Amino acid sequence: MKKNSSLVLGVESSCDDTAASILRYTRNNTGDHSEILSSIVMNQNNLHQNFRGVVPEIAARAHSERLDTCTEIALTEAGIMIDDVDLISVTSGPGLIGGLLSGIMFAKGLAHGLGVPLVGVNHLAAHCLSVKMVHSIDFPYLTLLASGGHCQFLIVEDIGIFSRLGGTIDDAPGECFDKIAGFLGLGYPGGPHIENHARNGDGNRFSFPKPMIERKNCNLSFSGIKTAVKRKTEEIIEKKGGLFSSDINDICASFQKSVLEVFKKKSTLAMEIFDKKYGFPVSNYAIVGGVAANKEINSVLKQTASEKNFNFWSVPLEFCTDNAAMIAYLGSKKFFSGDYKEEDLIPKPRWPLDLKSKPILGFGKRGVKA
Ligand code: KG4
Ligand code: ZN
Repeated sequence: MKKNSSLVLGVESSCDDTAASILRYTRNNTGDHSEILSSIVMNQNNLHQNFRGVVPEIAARAHSERLDTCTEIALTEAGIMIDDVDLISVTSGPGLIGGLLSGIMFAKGLAHGLGVPLVGVNHLAAHCLSVKMVHSIDFPYLTLLASGGHCQFLIVEDIGIFSRLGGTIDDAPGECFDKIAGFLGLGYPGGPHIENHARNGDGNRFSFPKPMIERKNCNLSFSGIKTAVKRKTEEIIEKKGGLFSSDINDICASFQKSVLEVFKKKSTLAMEIFDKKYGFPVSNYAIVGGVAANKEINSVLKQTASEKNFNFWSVPLEFCTDNAAMIAYLGSKKFFSGDYKEEDLIPKPRWPLDLKSKPILGFGKRGVKA
């Protein structure tokens, strides 16, 4: 299968979003081009809402129940039949093992039945490459990947080549948005709720910590901010017997401000490291992952980038959070460059992008985390 234009099905089920997408991937003398024909995301927010976080067993079952419907909708919206699919790309890690298994088994069955190739891709790599899916930017570029499970500064050198400059030593920022929204009685996932409340709040009312901000490296920490917000919330409830809406807005604004200041300082450091390594007159800096959906974070980091002579890139909201278009895109890139192997189809709950860097989160029983 080496046509100029291929229809690629992407399948994503690594966390709590069941997603399927159809992408038309075209190659010619001038390079490649991709057109997203459909991108369907079936979230499981209602299933996990009461638990204030993702319950792996519930997520895995929901994926198995929805993957076929999700794919059917993606095919219909793209106006194609299942037999038209030339290639399938599936997330094979990192993520929750049950969800990964649901997606991989579904994709394997489908690929076998259709007689088409199947490529397994890294979810984090797909987020990092999502910016190339929608903008034409060249390698290498600097990226801040900030999501519900991860936070890393990476240099994206090529499709499968990443250098990690630093990352979180504890919680991911999205996880803090979710947990704090939980303390405040807001909905799940917390990011969009906190962002909305912060818009009407006073970010200077509370001074929450900015962990590791003075350290001259690109590592970050968020769990201290989360604990401080929890304590402050409990203190206000004890004093006033509850939270007024102004308290909620001010807590959200002050929390978001702390996160922003950390991102700003660490992004500046990461840009300086990138500059020292490459010395381009103008470089590229992209933010990707669910937290990149935050408009305030976008506008502050855009300003930071321009101060350091970096172009700033982000992707439309629907491609910041989990989606299968980015999976189809990365799978296409890997397949047509021959950069894929059978073992990529083994579900990998942990799958760091840069194996040369020392692990930030150490080793667990199953190996290096990130
Ligand atoms: O990339 P993603 O969809 O899933 C993971 O791979 O983790 O990211 C989901 C995370 C959630 O924690 C969610 O609260 C956060 O992204 N998020 C946001 C916003 N929208 C989603 N965080 C801050 N502000 C937002 N507007
Ligand atoms: Zn993600």
